[in-house]
Amino acid sequence: MNIIELNGIDKNFQGDELKTLALSGINLTIKQGEYVSVSGPSGCGKSTLLSILGMLDTPSAGLYKLSGHDVSSLTRDQRATARCENIGFVFQSFNLISDLSVEENVILPLTYQDNYPAKIAIERAREVLAQVDMSHRLKHFPSALSGGQQQRVAIARALVNDPKLILADEPTGNLDSKNAGIVLDLFDNLHQQGRTICMVTHDPRTCERASRQIDIFDGQLVGDRITAPVAISA
Ligand SMILES: Nc1ncnc2c1ncn2[C@@H]1O[C@H](COP(=O)(O)OP(=O)(O)O)[C@@H](O)[C@H]1O
Ligand SMILES: [Mg+2]
Repeated sequence: MNIIELNGIDKNFQGDELKTLALSGINLTIKQGEYVSVSGPSGCGKSTLLSILGMLDTPSAGLYKLSGHDVSSLTRDQRATARCENIGFVFQSFNLISDLSVEENVILPLTYQDNYPAKIAIERAREVLAQVDMSHRLKHFPSALSGGQQQRVAIARALVNDPKLILADEPTGNLDSKNAGIVLDLFDNLHQQGRTICMVTHDPRTCERASRQIDIFDGQLVGDRITAPVAISA
């Protein structure tokens, strides 16, 4: 099954004088269970593509279907719900909330769901924090953690809603190679669990972990190689 279908996607940014064509004519289909790396030089449109996939931004033209549903026909609220139910985000700069503890950061996405029982939310947060080996830091604040630990908490937060699709924008970009390795091992595990991953990276060693490698240049899709079969077909 196709989790993502993009057809003729353009994205323009209108500045005061200049119009930037960040994405141009992107056609891309991603099957459930694929682990896709997205590479290309700085400014080529990688983060813009991820924002559109994550419904954080809308395309200027083209069609986006998520799990077969045309996303553009959704209202703002429906998009937020679809995002919450289907997608987990991991960013280069972790984006944890500094005055919430590790556990509270991970619980946060669940509190946006109506009537999610608090006790079950705590259990669920602890379960995903155990998966990323952060059970020993539940009450710590992000500032007391190393970068690698913060990113593991961010991965737990991305997983707490049990999303089918994980979008990651240079998740190892701020980490030393040891911690980058730990984070990439976690993504390998998620892939083996059958989750779909789309990861922006410009590190060739990171690309090698993916089952499919996509290249973007000047807003266009210029390369697309499948390097391993889909691990678990849906
Ligand atoms: N919100 C924005 N407003 C204006 N221009 C933007 C915005 N976001 C991205 N751009 C421009 O779009 C192009 C692609 O940016 P981006 O997707 O961030 O590239 P990458 O992630 O590959 O470095 C760049 O020229 C960037 O300056
Ligand atoms: Mg970027």
